[in-house]
Amino acid sequence: MSLFRTKSMTDIVPEDGAEGSLKRTLTASNLVLLGIGAIIGAGIFVLTGTAAANNAGPAIVLSFVLAGFGCLFAGLCYAEFAAMIPVAGSAYTYGYATLGEFIAWIIGWDLILEYLFAASTVAVGWSGYFTAFVASLGLHIPAALAGSPFTVEGTHTLVRAQLCVDPATGGVAVDAISKTAVTVANCAAAGGAVQSGVLNVPAMLMVLVLTVLLVIGIKESAKFNNFIVYVKVAIVLAVIGFGIKYIDTANWVPFIPENIAPGQFGWSGILRGAGVIFFAFIGFDAVSTTAQEAKNPQRDLPIGILGSLAVCTVLYIAMALVMTGMAHYSELDVAHPVFVAIQKAGPGLAWLGFFVNIGAIAGLASVVLVMLMGQPRIFYAMSRDGLLPSLFGKVHHKFGTPWISTIITGIVASLIAGFFPIALLGELVSIGTLLAFVIVCGGILVLRYKRPELPRPFRTPLVPFVPIMGILICGYLMYGLPGDTWIRLGVWMALGLLIYFGYGIRNSRLAKSGM
Ligand code: ALA
Repeated sequence: MSLFRTKSMTDIVPEDGAEGSLKRTLTASNLVLLGIGAIIGAGIFVLTGTAAANNAGPAIVLSFVLAGFGCLFAGLCYAEFAAMIPVAGSAYTYGYATLGEFIAWIIGWDLILEYLFAASTVAVGWSGYFTAFVASLGLHIPAALAGSPFTVEGTHTLVRAQLCVDPATGGVAVDAISKTAVTVANCAAAGGAVQSGVLNVPAMLMVLVLTVLLVIGIKESAKFNNFIVYVKVAIVLAVIGFGIKYIDTANWVPFIPENIAPGQFGWSGILRGAGVIFFAFIGFDAVSTTAQEAKNPQRDLPIGILGSLAVCTVLYIAMALVMTGMAHYSELDVAHPVFVAIQKAGPGLAWLGFFVNIGAIAGLASVVLVMLMGQPRIFYAMSRDGLLPSLFGKVHHKFGTPWISTIITGIVASLIAGFFPIALLGELVSIGTLLAFVIVCGGILVLRYKRPELPRPFRTPLVPFVPIMGILICGYLMYGLPGDTWIRLGVWMALGLLIYFGYGIRNSRLAKSGM
């Protein structure tokens, strides 16, 4: 029965000013900006193009609508929990209050996939933009030191990454050949030389720099984040506002290209596309991890979660319409689809390309920042409950931040970003996040029936419809991800079980208090 022990609400909601508590500095607008900072990133800047070209065509717009609904339902459930249990720890803490310690551990362990691994994933995407940008300024980072030593072949096998490098500069690989298809002959024919990937140094360094910023303090980090979010949103608005005049409606015909294989165009392609671009929505729930640093969490957390989600959904749909209108969807399967769409629009819009690259570099960095901020706060909560060693819960006496877990998160995220390719990481992040969303929606249902009397400053509307739809849509998007991603999720969860039964079950604060 100890597996299902739950924490009481009074146990969960800590008193302000208690020793080791975090500083309350964040306002509602900080929280909306924090959410937008976490949401707009590699998803819209990279994956929209891939999914339009390979899965949905111009109907990628409908994929955004579908994934947006899944997130809206999950977001409404998150908002009820966040207002009811306004402490650090996100879905993990909600699970502890409702579904029991074991499920809470499962969620907490799973959230590492969403936060820590997402930080690594977006850092890898950032590194691609950054390397190409500095190369355009004449500074060539050796290609072998700007990419993973591995690449994903097909959908599962991890193989050594072979790069076709420009011998003149030693820099950016010759793009014409995909990494899995590089041979000495085709690379030489393209004027390049074959090298093996070694390490993604730019991705590693940017994670470490942001980690230092986070150790120094959340207030300072929030200011830095606000600035970047404004830049990022301005760029997205500029692409939409200036791009709209360059839309060629012929590019939207046919809006739903004919299905050629499962998941490739037609309705099944729209569904597959929704699974791919789901990544673009991840992050609104990061707002909930800062609950203990929000000035008025019960009012402001729902505003932060739903406000950031609403803004981004509108921007995404408009952006997808403009991108597929400026360029034919088949031209967007590249690492910089927004930039390419602008180039295709013609010389009148060329000036915007530079700003798009700057916006992507700054924008992806702010996503990494929020993810790196969320993870230590989940560790903090887990450690305070005794499920992780107390080291993870140490708050810095001067900075007031969970500094040790921030440093541990930064180092691990940096190593993962250095070694693994974006395709593998992105799918793991998606499946992990979808699982957390499903559990959160389930938690709302359970709690409405088990504890109807609890005060709920924000109530999820239309229960049970909203949580059930959240479970169904997110579950369906999970189902659409490839089998090997499920296996990786299984391995990760098995590791989590070993740690729980080896450590957490005995050291849990509830176990020690005899529950
Ligand atoms: N939603 C975030 C992104 O698109 C994770 O990068």
